[in-house]
Amino acid sequence: METLWAFLLLTVGLALTSPVENSKASLMYPYGTDQGDTKNPKSDDGASSEITITVPFTFYGKKYHSLYVNNNGVISFGMNVSQYTPDPFPLDRATPFVAPYWADVNNVISGDVLWRQTQDPALLSRATADINLYFPEIPFTSTWALIATWDHVAYFGSASKKVNTFQAVLIANGELSFIMLNYDDIQWTTGIASGAKPRTGLGGTPAQAGFDSGDKINYYNIPGSRTPDILKIAETTNVRTPGRWMFQVDEFVTGVTTEKSDCLE
Ligand SMILES: *[C@@H]1O[C@H](CO)[C@@H](O)[C@H](O)[C@H]1NC(C)=O
Repeated sequence: METLWAFLLLTVGLALTSPVENSKASLMYPYGTDQGDTKNPKSDDGASSEITITVPFTFYGKKYHSLYVNNNGVISFGMNVSQYTPDPFPLDRATPFVAPYWADVNNVISGDVLWRQTQDPALLSRATADINLYFPEIPFTSTWALIATWDHVAYFGSASKKVNTFQAVLIANGELSFIMLNYDDIQWTTGIASGAKPRTGLGGTPAQAGFDSGDKINYYNIPGSRTPDILKIAETTNVRTPGRWMFQVDEFVTGVTTEKSDCLE
């Protein structure tokens, strides 16, 4: 009994003294091969093969039935992406992008790019609760989610131990669609072919975050994109939760604190 109390006190004590950084990890939806994730091959500028999705994802009025999870921090529709230096949205090409952190990842050096689509009831309840919390005026129940995670990924040309961990969660019910971007830990912004220093992963043309529907009208660049400030993205938010950005994208709406508009740029 005394041992049990000692254990409980120790557990509570540890929970109370946990470092603040741990709060970011709790934003992340569960990921890993033990969760049923598929890992992208180790390949610089690589991608998944085409992923057929079981519930269509509506992106500004167009329904998509497949997508690609690209190593360089982008989910794309219609075509895979190997471009490693980001361009600002809107892009000239009509390939829709969801870009949690578009930059020159090299998963050969370190880290993994993982994804799964899910209709697991517990996970969908969590997704539904998150959407209902951040978009209270929209009646919504999730029937599908895709979780793509860049777990401890290095940058091209790295001569450091710096790695980034971030995630994009697509949440949909066939008609309504949402993007959730979660930033656990961001330590670098740029690969050396985009102008970074090998030892810092900083400088040059830094990462771009946001989305581009491909129609030249509906897109969003998260503030700090392609500037050194993007390193601090895990401290920013549009939904009062640092490290998380959320958007409704079946038609243009951003988080609870922002007015509806066609274009925020
Ligand atoms: C993209 O798709 C093309 C055609 O299917 C394939 O040849 C190429 O290797 C793919 N690129 C990546 C980055 O996976």
